[in-house]
Amino acid sequence: MNLTDVINKMSLRNKIEQLSQFRLTRDDFEEMKDKLKNECIGSFILADSATAGNAELKPLTREQINEIQKVAMENHGIPLLFGHDVIHGHKICMPIPLALSASFNPELVENSYKYIAEECRNDGINWSFAPMLDLCRDPRWGRIIECPGEDPYLGEKMAEAVVKGFQGDDDKINIAACAKHFVGYGTAEGGRDYHRGEISEYTLRNYYLRAFDSAVKNGVATVMNSFNEINGIPNVCNKHLLTDVLRGEMGFDGFVISDWAAIEQLTNNGIAEDKQKAAELCLDAGIDMDMVDCCYYDNLEKSVEEGKISIKTIDEAVMRILSVKEKMGLFENPYFETVEYSKEKHRQISKELATESIVLLKNNNNTLPLDKNQKICVMGQMANDKRAVLGSWSLDCDINETVTIYDGIKSRAENTFYFDCSIPKDRTLEDTYDTDVVIVVIGESDKITGEANSIASIELSDEHKHLIKCAKKLNKKVIGILSFGRPRAFESVIDDFDALLYAWHGGSQIGNAIGDILFGDSCPSGKLPITFPRMTGQIPIYYNCTATGKGVDGYYNKILSHPNYWDTESSPLFPFGFGLSYTQFEYGQINVQQSVISLEEIKEGKTFDLSINIKNTGDFSAKEVVQCYIKDCLASMVRPQRELKLFEKVMIQKDKSQTVTFRIGAEQLGFYNSQGKYIIEKGDFRVYIGSDCLANNYVTISIK
Ligand code: GLC
Repeated sequence: MNLTDVINKMSLRNKIEQLSQFRLTRDDFEEMKDKLKNECIGSFILADSATAGNAELKPLTREQINEIQKVAMENHGIPLLFGHDVIHGHKICMPIPLALSASFNPELVENSYKYIAEECRNDGINWSFAPMLDLCRDPRWGRIIECPGEDPYLGEKMAEAVVKGFQGDDDKINIAACAKHFVGYGTAEGGRDYHRGEISEYTLRNYYLRAFDSAVKNGVATVMNSFNEINGIPNVCNKHLLTDVLRGEMGFDGFVISDWAAIEQLTNNGIAEDKQKAAELCLDAGIDMDMVDCCYYDNLEKSVEEGKISIKTIDEAVMRILSVKEKMGLFENPYFETVEYSKEKHRQISKELATESIVLLKNNNNTLPLDKNQKICVMGQMANDKRAVLGSWSLDCDINETVTIYDGIKSRAENTFYFDCSIPKDRTLEDTYDTDVVIVVIGESDKITGEANSIASIELSDEHKHLIKCAKKLNKKVIGILSFGRPRAFESVIDDFDALLYAWHGGSQIGNAIGDILFGDSCPSGKLPITFPRMTGQIPIYYNCTATGKGVDGYYNKILSHPNYWDTESSPLFPFGFGLSYTQFEYGQINVQQSVISLEEIKEGKTFDLSINIKNTGDFSAKEVVQCYIKDCLASMVRPQRELKLFEKVMIQKDKSQTVTFRIGAEQLGFYNSQGKYIIEKGDFRVYIGSDCLANNYVTISIK
């Protein structure tokens, strides 16, 4: 297909239409069919509101989508893209992306997105606005649930997993992925969605850009800008980021779409006097397709006539869009066919991911796993919830597929009953006195997470605390199951639990996952992808922080003078990478073949080869996430105390050992300086290997 010929046959009007995305629901179907008879629209978004994640959809059938596509193909031969927010599931719901990161299992995540892609294509969706790759350190921000967490390397691995899962790892794209929101959206001040961020070049490249770079390296077809302004420039019209960095440096060759009406929004923050100016700024900056506000559609012809936008610029944007469509094979095969897929397989992978995402935070005296013959009292409405546990951006998912937490327990232990604490009948409470153990399930609605849903305090609510008090009244062992989308602060109640599981908004199969974990059919292996603060006031608190000159850093408790605060500890409640198991893992010494390598050899690709033996000394065969952190001890810029550089999730049978090897080279030892240049410097590096970021087991390697 010679795309240049295609473009040369298009009128200017058609080209501008190709740069435009319209909304498409059942209500717009006939109108859009008519429109396509004369117009060369580029794409439709199957959504009817800006925060599609929180609004019920009126979906079209696959047949209707094909009908629309047929009109486009018959009238101008250019296939349409049908985009939709499929963030962590379409029919069967996977855990929210933040929980997927907690699995530290990119291979499993990749496989799940292959299944999600099957469900998408079966419903006429060939473009998903995922993965969301905004690194975030602020649990007040509702969209933290969609992100891969606070660490850039984990973000890189999740970006790769979703892009390869959605697009497939061969040259023909299955469904187009979209790396969003470029870039730094997660720095929104105060956790207030859409608010500004301030990011230095140094921080931008060493933290916020990395997951996007991974998506680009893995061939992501599209990128979406973030709503907010970074360093005083709205990302939707930031030419330095969209063109110089994303395309020039990172080599992105797909196309960029604006976020919902983000172009028009330039007229709200004093950047553009009108929609035409907004259109010109954004097209020139590198936004190829305009989502739903018609700024391009209504104004670019005038911009060309007035000489403010060149035809060349328009042709380049059209070429990028057509190139993606060609890579997807849409010109040859634009229509959707029935995709036969196994619902059972999709349920199974959702359960596996939920199981591997659950984090065991506490297990005093081996309270867990439970015996299935025990009498179990379950408290808390969240135990019966089918909706909230799916999380935000899951409204297409089939709620009838949800296995509730209570169902998951009851189906495994017949002596389970539910006690409703909200009904103050003390007499009834006595009925529970012969119970053996209490499971209290607390959580938050999906509706206070996701876009435009931030909270000022992450402390638990009075209702949460009432439930826990209720459970304590029974004077039995209390197991907490926390089903939230984001980290919440629960230091004040941590001592009330004998065991504590963080189940996130764990998706359709959360009940079965909890059931398997509670009764030992599976061993918890999740690790925190984000730091858990003791209280809201500690935010932002993150593991890859730098030390101060005073030696007061708090996170790692090397307090030389005094705590960071008088009203709380300096350290987090739970650190990044933390998660317990039912078994114990004994880490041996770290062996390094050659601990000194020259800078020249490192630049030529030589690596430090490390190995470590880990022994499972407990009673359960289990998976462990072996984490490798590096500290650059002496550098031309202040470097973090620890940085996750590699990890491997391994299954180790009980009483057995496993050797894990890590290769550390230029990619792990360098950093971007303030001029945005990647540099590697001589000096010592500490390599920590362990089960979370506080690992003290280290060796020193040196670049000479
Ligand atoms: C929303 C979100 C974005 C989503 C888009 C389309 O405002 O910011 O993540 O993909 O609009 O629904």
